[in-house]
Amino acid sequence: TMGLLAAFLISALLVRPVSLVKHSLKYFFTETPGAQSIPEFVAVAFVDEVQIGDSNSVREAKPKKDWIKFFEDHPQDLEWYRFQSNEIHQFLKATIETLRRRLNHTEGVHILQRMSGCEWDDETGEINGYDQYGYGGVDFLAFDSQTLTWIAPKPQAVITKMRWDSHKPGLESTKNFIAHQCPEFLKEYLQYGRSFLQTTVFPSVSLIQKTSSSPVSCHATGFYPDRAVMFWRKDGEEIHEGVDPGESLPNNDGTFQMSIDLNVSSVTPEDWQRYDCVFHLSGMNEDMITKLDKTVIRTNREKPADTVTFISAAVVVLTLTIVTGVAFVAYKKKKGEKSESPDDGSEQSERLNPQS
Ligand SMILES: *[C@@H]1O[C@H](CO)[C@@H](O)[C@H](O)[C@H]1NC(C)=O
Ligand SMILES: *[C@@H]1O[C@H](CO)[C@@H](O)[C@H](O)[C@H]1NC(C)=O
Repeated sequence: TMGLLAAFLISALLVRPVSLVKHSLKYFFTETPGAQSIPEFVAVAFVDEVQIGDSNSVREAKPKKDWIKFFEDHPQDLEWYRFQSNEIHQFLKATIETLRRRLNHTEGVHILQRMSGCEWDDETGEINGYDQYGYGGVDFLAFDSQTLTWIAPKPQAVITKMRWDSHKPGLESTKNFIAHQCPEFLKEYLQYGRSFLQTTVFPSVSLIQKTSSSPVSCHATGFYPDRAVMFWRKDGEEIHEGVDPGESLPNNDGTFQMSIDLNVSSVTPEDWQRYDCVFHLSGMNEDMITKLDKTVIRTNREKPADTVTFISAAVVVLTLTIVTGVAFVAYKKKKGEKSESPDDGSEQSERLNPQS
């Protein structure tokens, strides 16, 4: 029936309205003394997940293309960042030495990371800030701005925690940075970057399979910004089994690509139509849905087909118009299932204002 079809369509569309009210400014610092192939120190800054600049131990802070003009007009901001980066470099270097001695880590390459930043919700005005350190790739210390203390998740961090906790000016400046300075910078950057930060470009999506026994790769290329999630669904439900997600990678033109594989070896021919691949760009209401369909798969064996399924906003709106309230309930339930922010949970470390 029409109602059932509509209900199926709406669950298949999985529209996830995301508004860009949450903004963020993030700083990452990585100290890796003694590594041959990578610089000893790397600093990177992001606004709303878009990189604004970087620096390393052999090169001073350098803004990315879109931000050059901003820093030409605000030389003091660049100066501040360069000064802070250098301070942090020295601080991380000294800290990693201390840790290596204290923990008897005399051999090999060690890595100390620092991540600090803030989030600002421009609807509620809520501000959240953080400052975290990672040592050897695991959480080391995190700042608690309520109690003005450092949290040590591992016994090996306790001595450092106690030393930093006893350094009141350091605690105050950390708090001041994440609660005041960082949000001020963020607002300033957002004001300047309003036009291009909200630029979004949809990719082209295709299905690729090397041989008939290989996984089917759903490949999206040409999207911007680098804030996308991809997943496979069966009967409209996200699946993880047999799915191998890939990282997003930069293209030469400033856009990004990403792919996600599905092992189809145990999928029967009649079940193929139950699967689809979803590409979701954060901040956009419409997703790109690609049905698992043998006829559109590009392979090395035959001439590539050229079909890309793009569910446009118009189709979404049209579908929404047909669909009854029942379908909306189903859609709302579905919406809550998955967190929409593909935030990196993997990186630890950094922030400005060393504790030393
Ligand atoms: C480091 O080595 C010294 C001497 O070899 C030892 O006394 C100390 O307990 C070691 N510390 C740790 C954290 O393993
Ligand atoms: C796909 O799944 C089958 C079992 O269902 C397994 O034997 C095979 O190794 C998997 N292929 C890949 C590429 O993971």
